[in-house]
Amino acid sequence: MRKKLIAGNWKMNNTPSQGVALINEIKDTANNAVCDVVVCTPYICLPAACEAAKGSKIAVSAENMHFEDKGAFTGEISADMLKEVGVTYTVIGHSERRQYFAETDTTVNLKTVKALANDILPIVCVGESLDQRENGITFDFISMQVKLALKGVSAEDAKKVVIAYEPIWAIGTGMTATDEQANEVCLFIRETVKSLYGADVSDTMRILYGGSMNAKNAAGLLAQSDIDGGLIGGASLKAADFCTIINAANA
Ligand code: 13P
Repeated sequence: MRKKLIAGNWKMNNTPSQGVALINEIKDTANNAVCDVVVCTPYICLPAACEAAKGSKIAVSAENMHFEDKGAFTGEISADMLKEVGVTYTVIGHSERRQYFAETDTTVNLKTVKALANDILPIVCVGESLDQRENGITFDFISMQVKLALKGVSAEDAKKVVIAYEPIWAIGTGMTATDEQANEVCLFIRETVKSLYGADVSDTMRILYGGSMNAKNAAGLLAQSDIDGGLIGGASLKAADFCTIINAANA
């Protein structure tokens, strides 16, 4: 039985103090939750977020991480830096990073490997564009993204990876994938992982859905056989909505 995971991706929202206030608002719900609860915050919010989440069931995630240990990479953040402040997860390869910040399947793989080597749990994002879906190449594209992200990752490490299926056309658009559409691709991702590592890994790995998940549609999506949680953008910024989604994952 896979434990569900509800992760809020704040993106470029919330100052450190606003982030702390939001964490304090969701703390009780998270502490009473059966599922895992994660907040993915901007780098600058991470120390205060880790401090605010201390002693609670909320885990703190970065939204990105560099793949080198240290050096001349102006503006970047390493695994060591994240670990020292108490970060336990990082998002890798979000479509916004792929689209606006030249993230590639190669850097996604390097970051995934580096995160795992440092005991940081990677939440690896994959997802097709509307154009790709309309041209019938969704499954080919997702299969490629998953296989390239996991290149060189051992079976033992692969069990710790979280994959988030986020169709680009559903992100921030209000155009949620239907329960069936989302589950179909999450199941396909699990089959792809099974072809790489076998059933032990694919039955263990958590696969999330993200893309306009909200307080209204979460229960339906989270009830699907192969959706093990959500990566939530907009609705994670409102405590009441995020708590409703956490509670939906407990059902
Ligand atoms: P929205 O929930 O705002 O569509 O964002 C989804 C997302 O990109 C989470 O990483």
